[in-house]
Order: sequence, then structure tokens, then C-alpha cells
Amino acid sequence: MEVLRVDGGRRLAGRVRISGAKNAALPAFAAALLTEEEVVLHNVPDLSDVRYMARILGHLGAEVEEGEPGTWRIRGAELRHEAPYELVRKMRASICLLGSLVGRLGRARVSLPGGCVIGPRPVDLHIKGLRKLGCEVTVTGGYLEVEGSARRGGSAFLGGRQGSTVTGTANLLMAAVLTPGSTRIESAACEPEIDDLARMLVGMGARIEGIGSPTLRVEGVGRLSGGEHTILPDRVETGTFLLAAALVGDGVEIEGSPPEHLSAVLDKLEEAGIRPAYEGGRWWVPASPELRPVDVITMPHPGFPTDLQAQMTALMAVTPGISVITERIYPNRFMHIPELQRMGADLALEGASCIVKGVPSLSGAPVMASDLRASAALVLAALRADGESWIQRIYHLDRGYEGLDTKLRLLGASIERLPAEAMPRELGEEE
Ligand code: EPU
Repeated sequence: MEVLRVDGGRRLAGRVRISGAKNAALPAFAAALLTEEEVVLHNVPDLSDVRYMARILGHLGAEVEEGEPGTWRIRGAELRHEAPYELVRKMRASICLLGSLVGRLGRARVSLPGGCVIGPRPVDLHIKGLRKLGCEVTVTGGYLEVEGSARRGGSAFLGGRQGSTVTGTANLLMAAVLTPGSTRIESAACEPEIDDLARMLVGMGARIEGIGSPTLRVEGVGRLSGGEHTILPDRVETGTFLLAAALVGDGVEIEGSPPEHLSAVLDKLEEAGIRPAYEGGRWWVPASPELRPVDVITMPHPGFPTDLQAQMTALMAVTPGISVITERIYPNRFMHIPELQRMGADLALEGASCIVKGVPSLSGAPVMASDLRASAALVLAALRADGESWIQRIYHLDRGYEGLDTKLRLLGASIERLPAEAMPRELGEEE
């Protein structure tokens, strides 16, 4: 296992390039199974989740090959329909294989991924959607089994208590493109990653209308062809760097997602007193002035993304005044709070809201990463803190950020990746 050692207090300056989006790349790997022809994906981020997805596709019978950095070739000539527990349990996103297997083979048996540290992750809306296409769906022995050989177009409403479902929309879309007849997906997720998937599918010959809107209309086709697709830049990584620049920046240029993918984040940054400029595909974040506190509520896109909630909390933790960060998508996604408190942040949890009283400074501490975005929040806090922080369990970070430590180091941060043994024994976790 590795750890990150961060010596806080350095200012960041220079240029960083954002990688392809994890949450677009994973469904794109699944979508590549919808054709027996070769699909070439570009701008794929180098992440442990992506490599894991590649292994699962291999298990399903696909030939998966990594070319030059960022390029993967996938050919699912012959496939089996079962994704077993040993593989699925490590990565929740493997649920998005369900739709592509149903689309391509007319059936699927995919293990339910189980619990997750950010809270319950139900799949009732995925099931409902597939049933609306005439699939029979059963849960047996921890597996979702779908029999969809007699499926036909239908109409499905995917709105739930917390809004739509991103991977549920991806699943239904992938199943629908190869389902005879017309399918209408109402209250479809509008996240940019869903648009990216829809555009990839159209490039393969799918007929989809309403891309980018909450109503997707699909006209099923008999087969899809192979092709090439370039994954869009990661808006969560872009947002993480925007927040890092607001926190400890001295003029940072970020080549990443366009403004329309980040409107709620930009709105909150402006309210906080910082206005990044965008031109020619690049953001320019000036040296951070004195910031003001802002209240944030996470919502489905185009609202403030839950995947940036923890990082925003890190920024507000050192912003003078009181801010309230409310989590509406995953009401238990607050594992970063006790760790940020260990660094001196003044945070109190009230239901699904974190009350943040900005403190003048944080102090470096040994902390424990609990999930992907919480880890990023700890890195941001450590960059700002006085003294040394040790961040443990950084495998969470490597699931979804390509070389975050390397990119930060190039911007001037003092951050190094070390084997866990390099950490002073008294600071490390118990074996
Ligand atoms: N929900 C239901 N029923 C369902 C599905 C979802 O009630 O059948 C609820 C969830 O409990 C949650 C809300 O609906 O409250 C939204 O969940 P959604 O299904 O949209 O989440 P997801 O598709 O499982 C994706 C991202 C997450 C991101 C969420 C929300 C991928 C692979 N994952 O998850 O990304 O937080 O959308 O935007 O796309 C991350 O990257 O760190 C991450 C967790």
C-alpha cells in the first residue's frame, strides 16, 4: 500500500491538463460490447477502475487491448452474459454492464455490487426501466438476472426521490438501442457523461433523439457497428483543480471541461469571490483573493455535483464565516468530516448538512481516505494546512484521479507518494 506525504503551504501555479472522465469511460467500455466489431476509445483516463473494467470485459469474452496512452481497443465478438460477484463487488460501476449485455445478448446475469461507503446504492430504477422494455428481472442469490429475449420498446420514468439515476439511464439507453420499437426514457439523467455515451452510441449507428434533455427517444436498430470515440474531459477532476486553485492557487491554468459542464460550481465560486476565466478550452484561475462563505446543495446535473461536495467543504473550511453544505444525493456522504476535523476544521453535521465555520488555518495530520472524493478533499486540505500530512488508503484516489499527486507536484505542490512503510510507525494505521 502507498501513502501520500504532503507538506502544506506551497502555492500552486502553472498549467494542468485534465484527463478523460472516469464516469464516461466506464459506461463507454460497457457500450463497446453492443457490437461484435472493434471499438476504439480515446482519452481514456489511466485509473484503477478503468483497468478493472477492462478485466471484467475480458472475463465476459471480449478482447481488450491498451494501445498508446489513453487508447483502448475493445472487440466483443463473442460474449458470455454473466458478471460474477468476485469481479463486480470491487467496482459498483460494473452494474452498467447490465444494459449492454441485455442489448447485445438479450439476457444478463450481473451480481449486485453490494454496499458502499457513501451510503445505500439501490438499483430499483434500473430494474423498473428494464421491466418497461418487457424484460423479466429477478434477484436471486445476490444476482440480478434479466431475461429480455422478447423485449420491445416502451416508456420508462427514471425519476426517483433523489432525482434521476445516472447509471440507470446509461443501462436503459444501452438496452434500448438494440431493442425493437420505440423507447422513451423520461426523467433521464442529464449528466454530461450520459450525453457522451449517447453520442458514442449514435456514432455506432444507434438512433437517439433528445440527447442532453430529460426525455430520450430511442428507435431500436438491428445491429450496431464499431467505431471510435473520444471520452470527454472529467468535470469532477476539472472542478477539483478549480477548487484547489481557489484554495492555494497563485495563477493556475486548467485545460479541461467547458463551462456548461460546471455551471453550478462556477456560480458558487463566483459567489465566493473568485471568477475563473475560460477561453480556448482553458481555465485561468487568478491568485485567490479573500473568499466569502457560500451555501451549497448537491443536486443532479446541472446542479452542484455530489462528487465535488467534499472538496467544496475543504475550501469552505478555511473561508472566513459560516457556510452550509447540504448533500441531497447521498445523505451519508460525509466520511471526510472526521478526517478534516483532525486537521483542525470546524465542522458539524446536522442531518444531511455540514455546518462549516471557516478557520484561519488547518494543521497537517495523518488522515485516512475513505472514498474517492473524500480522498480528494483531504489532499486539498493538506495542501493548505501548515506542516506535514500523511494520507493513507490512497487506492481510493487512484480509482478516479489520474496522477493527481503528479499533476499537483508539477504545479508546485510538495506531495510525494511513498510506500506505507515510509510513514513514521506511530502515525500509521494498525495492521
Ligand atoms: N437511486 C435510486 N434508485 C436507483 C438508482 C439510484 O434511488 O435505482 C438513487 C441513489 O441512491 C442516489 C441517486 O438516486 O441517491 C443518484 O444515484 P445514481 O444512480 O445517479 O448514481 P450512480 O449512477 O450509481 C453515478 C456516478 C457517481 C455519482 C452519481 C451521482 C458513475 C459510475 N458513478 O453513480 O460517481 O456520484 O452518479 O452523480 O457514473 C464518483 O465518481 O465518485 C461517484 C460516486
